[in-house]
Amino acid sequence: MNPVLFLIFTFLCSRGGLDFPLAAGISTIRPGEELKSGSFLESDGGNFTLGFFTIPETNYTYLGIWYTNDRRQVWVANPNTPLNNNVAAALTIDNTTGILKITSGGNIVLNISNQDAANPTARIEDSGNLVLRTEKQSIWQSFDNPTNTLLPGMKLGFNTATGQNWTLTSWISDNVPASGAFTLGWEPTQDSGQLVVYQRGERYSISGPLKDQAFEFMPRLNDLWTPYHCNFSVVSNDDEEYLTFSVINGRLWMWELTPMGKLRDGANSRQYGPDGFCYGYESVPPFCVTSELPRCRSSNDKFEEKSVNFLPTIAEYEENTSLSLSDCMERCWNNCNCVAFTVLNSNGTGCKTWTGKLEYYSTDDPNDSKIYVLVQGSSSKGLKFRKNVDMDSHCSGSFSSYAHCGHLLLSKNQKAKIRRRREEEANTVLKRVDDF
Ligand SMILES: *[C@@H]1O[C@H](CO)[C@@H](O)[C@H](O)[C@H]1NC(C)=O
Ligand SMILES: *[C@@H]1O[C@H](CO)[C@@H](O)[C@H](O)[C@H]1NC(C)=O
Ligand SMILES: *[C@@H]1O[C@H](CO)[C@@H](O)[C@H](O)[C@H]1NC(C)=O
Ligand SMILES: *[C@@H]1O[C@H](CO)[C@@H](O)[C@H](O)[C@H]1NC(C)=O
Ligand SMILES: *[C@@H]1O[C@H](CO)[C@@H](O)[C@H](O)[C@H]1NC(C)=O
Ligand SMILES: *[C@@H]1O[C@H](CO)[C@@H](O)[C@H](O)[C@H]1NC(C)=O
Ligand SMILES: *[C@@H]1O[C@H](CO)[C@@H](O)[C@H](O)[C@H]1NC(C)=O
Ligand SMILES: *[C@@H]1O[C@H](CO)[C@@H](O)[C@H](O)[C@H]1NC(C)=O
Ligand SMILES: *[C@@H]1O[C@H](CO)[C@@H](O)[C@H](O)[C@H]1NC(C)=O
Repeated sequence: MNPVLFLIFTFLCSRGGLDFPLAAGISTIRPGEELKSGSFLESDGGNFTLGFFTIPETNYTYLGIWYTNDRRQVWVANPNTPLNNNVAAALTIDNTTGILKITSGGNIVLNISNQDAANPTARIEDSGNLVLRTEKQSIWQSFDNPTNTLLPGMKLGFNTATGQNWTLTSWISDNVPASGAFTLGWEPTQDSGQLVVYQRGERYSISGPLKDQAFEFMPRLNDLWTPYHCNFSVVSNDDEEYLTFSVINGRLWMWELTPMGKLRDGANSRQYGPDGFCYGYESVPPFCVTSELPRCRSSNDKFEEKSVNFLPTIAEYEENTSLSLSDCMERCWNNCNCVAFTVLNSNGTGCKTWTGKLEYYSTDDPNDSKIYVLVQGSSSKGLKFRKNVDMDSHCSGSFSSYAHCGHLLLSKNQKAKIRRRREEEANTVLKRVDDF
């Protein structure tokens, strides 16, 4: 076919269906029009793109908004309703109800907006906000329904008159956008306020109060001596309490609440928050909210990530794919018999926990799974290494322990190497304790 004719043909057929791959210059859809997977909307100034994207590690497809320049995602429409990447999906505005929705094969997958409206349009703005509006008013906007990312112009806080809360919610893992264990909110104080991270609804960590454009415990988060800083405003009145900000130097800017409950500054990729996990005892700097410790845990106990082979201990699995690494940590910390944990699935969901006696080999094999093991205080009790493992007593057991024992057939050299490593580890633990 003549290419010119082909273009005209495509154009004519695409009234009511945005079928060309990159709809450069098109930022708006109208009732009855469909934005199909493979097509995109672009904000008028070009900062942001809206479209379907697939996460290669899981092959699930989501509708989202990302920075056009570097494709960093800033919003996901359907975090808890992933689409199989082989089905044809579309974003559309229902031409009778005016509801913004995702459809697949004619069926509604998700209603994005929740209120009928007469002949609205949906537009991706250069701020990164997707706004559904009629001629008269705004019906729904993505800035009021944030996922894990805060952009300039967005709010953190609440409006008691409308019942609106503006909070970020972490992903479960780097590859699973579904709602994770952490939310980030704004907690007003008498003359300012602070950022608070909640873990499954419980206060988990805090930023310290905002004073002179910086947070007390996270001064580098808005470092006025670098180009990466912004202008915070705290709004406090009878109805509303929130934090918002503008960017001073115009850089593409974002904060992200990570699956581990830390704040990641998109401008320089630095992360702010507790080193590892919060355990409920005091931390330095004082990010962690204190709470009563389980009777069997002390303020010297923590988990460290290691490549290990376990001697036979009992492993338990929890297949619930809404659980994240931090949930596994909580389960292990609160179970006095638990000595180690990790996630169950390669996509970072579910839990595996080990109970019993803490005995393991650290290995240099990158293929060995990384596991969080309990390290108890400066006595490095958890680092005990038994030179002479009794193969018979350990390997006469169940079939499942046999696989572990295969790894115990180590040469003298390997044993020496492991022992050396172990001593190094003990030293680093001591060193870290000294650092405090
Ligand atoms: C709604 O849109 C569809 C698809 O464009 C079209 O076939 C249908 O006639 C429209 N219905 C109304 C009531 O406008
Ligand atoms: C994660 O992996 C589990 C187990 O393989 C699977 O059931 C689940 O659907 C996956 N979830 C996502 C969002 O990839
Ligand atoms: C994703 O799809 C590709 C191509 O079909 C396949 O090779 C890969 O194994 C799939 N990955 C997952 C995690 O299902
Ligand atoms: C979406 O909204 C329509 C119209 O209000 C309703 O009939 C339908 O059940 C909703 N679908 C889903 C999946 O929520
Ligand atoms: C969008 O891009 C312009 C420059 O093209 C910049 O001035 C503006 O701050 C950007 N907006 C955001 C939210 O990044
Ligand atoms: C907003 O947060 C408050 C306090 O946590 C809670 O009571 C309320 O139900 C929330 N409202 C909505 C709409 O989520
Ligand atoms: C910071 O924001 C406030 C209120 O929005 C504004 O009055 C002030 O001029 C801004 N400062 C800078 C340096 O942009
Ligand atoms: C799975 O875990 C989530 C998060 O803790 C929880 O809300 C949900 O009830 C669990 N589901 C089941 C079936 O236990
Ligand atoms: C790790 O696994 C890969 C693929 O299974 C294998 O090719 C490689 O040799 C393994 N590396 C080690 C150190 O065992």
